[in-house]
Amino acid sequence: MCGIIGYTGQSEALPILLEGLSRLEYRGYDSAGISVFNKNKTHTTYRAAGKLNELKKLTETSKATGLSGIGHTRWATHGEANTINAHPQSDTYGNLSVVHNGIVENYLDLKQELTNEGHLFNSDTDTETIPHLIEHYMNDGTGFEEAAEKSAARIKGANAVVVMCNDQPDKIVAFRTGNAGGVLIGYGDNEMLVASDIPAILGYTNTISHLLPGELAVLHPNSVQFKDQDGNPIKKEKTFVPNDPISIAKGDYRHFMLKEICEQPDAIIASLMGRLSSEEGLFSLEDLNLTADDINKISKVTLTGMGTSLHAAMLARLWMERIAGIPSEWDNSSEFRYREPLLDENSLFISISQSGETADTLAAMEEAKKKNISQITLCNYSNTQASRIADQTLQIRAGLEIGVAATKTFTCSLVTLYALAIYLGVQREKINGKEAAKLIEELFRLPEMIGTVLANQGQYEELATLYHSSSDFLFLGRGYNYPIALEGALKLKEVSYIHAEGYPAGEMKHGPISLIDESMPVVALVPKDELYEKMMNTINEAKSRGAIVIAVASESDTEIEQKVDHVIRIPDVSDSLSPIVASIPMQLISYYFAVRRGCDVDQPRNLAKSVTVE
Ligand code: G6P
Repeated sequence: MCGIIGYTGQSEALPILLEGLSRLEYRGYDSAGISVFNKNKTHTTYRAAGKLNELKKLTETSKATGLSGIGHTRWATHGEANTINAHPQSDTYGNLSVVHNGIVENYLDLKQELTNEGHLFNSDTDTETIPHLIEHYMNDGTGFEEAAEKSAARIKGANAVVVMCNDQPDKIVAFRTGNAGGVLIGYGDNEMLVASDIPAILGYTNTISHLLPGELAVLHPNSVQFKDQDGNPIKKEKTFVPNDPISIAKGDYRHFMLKEICEQPDAIIASLMGRLSSEEGLFSLEDLNLTADDINKISKVTLTGMGTSLHAAMLARLWMERIAGIPSEWDNSSEFRYREPLLDENSLFISISQSGETADTLAAMEEAKKKNISQITLCNYSNTQASRIADQTLQIRAGLEIGVAATKTFTCSLVTLYALAIYLGVQREKINGKEAAKLIEELFRLPEMIGTVLANQGQYEELATLYHSSSDFLFLGRGYNYPIALEGALKLKEVSYIHAEGYPAGEMKHGPISLIDESMPVVALVPKDELYEKMMNTINEAKSRGAIVIAVASESDTEIEQKVDHVIRIPDVSDSLSPIVASIPMQLISYYFAVRRGCDVDQPRNLAKSVTVE
């Protein structure tokens, strides 16, 4: 989704802004732009559709000088992904420059009003109404800062806006409306930065403050003033963010996605560290703050998320029911918010969002909050929008994930949810200490099991060589592995652009079977679990219609080879943990197919790492 960077200080702004934008590339974008301001009270704007390289080429031919500026990577919502619609956007006379993340919900009304007044619009964006609105107030003699404040009060929807003005070239104004699109302020040495997220400014500062919805910040090279939504000055806490250069660098890996897939054993250890002990009775989820009474009273767990996080929610429902013994449901966040859900006061609402920024998930959380329901959110970062809405946050501790396709954040969300289910199960006496210790002991073996799967990557390259030109794939699973079939199909679509469908295997006869022929690879998740025989029946049905079957099967399954075309082995593992192990082959299939097809693995077309608009 859109990325924002701004700088005011003592150094040339252009290279700092370009560097910041390149660190925001992982969010996903389709055009980019920069404005550099100088002491002569003018500014130069560069904008280009496509990748950052296009923008860099423009800046190489005529390097703008100036000690301040703003930059943006745009993920189109209103108006085509072209140069005219790229940010920064300006006002009628080119005095202002604005970058923006979000959707101005009332932009049509504002545009009409401003056009009637004589403002000239150039783009199809909602963003362009912002500089014109500020210009409108400045035309009355209102100062830049106050005009920005007045405009913020009129803009509807969840927005993050950063604006600069020719008259005061060292000043940056940033504000937020509504509950999406993060803005953080970075404190440098005689320089200040503003950004949509942390990687953009690491290297210049490790000290930041977060802007909350309704707040506004005015940055100068040596100072920053904050105001609340009523315009009153406020003080903000400073937070220290540690550098994580190892995660930021790709190291020897060709892509971040592969690096992050391979980091999973370590990431899972980090997720579990200090949380669980396999000694009977010794058990803590130290960052969870629910009393025994709260836990015993839970009448229903409602889980929600989007994309890969939704698949984590689907899987967690099974754990909540079977390990914790609590009636549970899941819903896609964008559906939940509009379905008038029936939740009683003892419901527990669990949202999963690695970014903690996904607009639909935040909106679902707000919906649950209106009903006064106790809320836990799972995020990969601290100080997220989601943590501010939820009563408590469980950090999944996956470390920075740069690849747009979620991999280690998925498995770390899963282990955290699994640990939570065990914790609730023990407290509610659905399982006893001994049973919990057994589950935890196996959970601790997960990094090693995943390591075994990761050690055997040659076979995925071979599969990619054989089937990379297939136009359709089917992923089938049952029980615990049904959400993993959905995740396998999603991953393949996301990074390799091959059409794929995920189904519960039992559903195959009710439609998908008509797609099967000898050109259709079917990935069957068939570990030796309680539904093994049922899965084998489905595999036989697919084989007898000519399908190419790639089975993800247990190490101890000695018969599978004769029944399918290819076998990917996973270690023998309990039914309830098998989906976490089986998710690794899903990631590796999509990665190697995408590489073979020459796709942009880390930044797939049209996708964004965090989707901050509805
Ligand atoms: C986007 C990403 C997906 C991710 C989903 C939810 O669509 O491309 O990979 O699963 O958002 O993101 P979240 O940050 O809420 O987990």
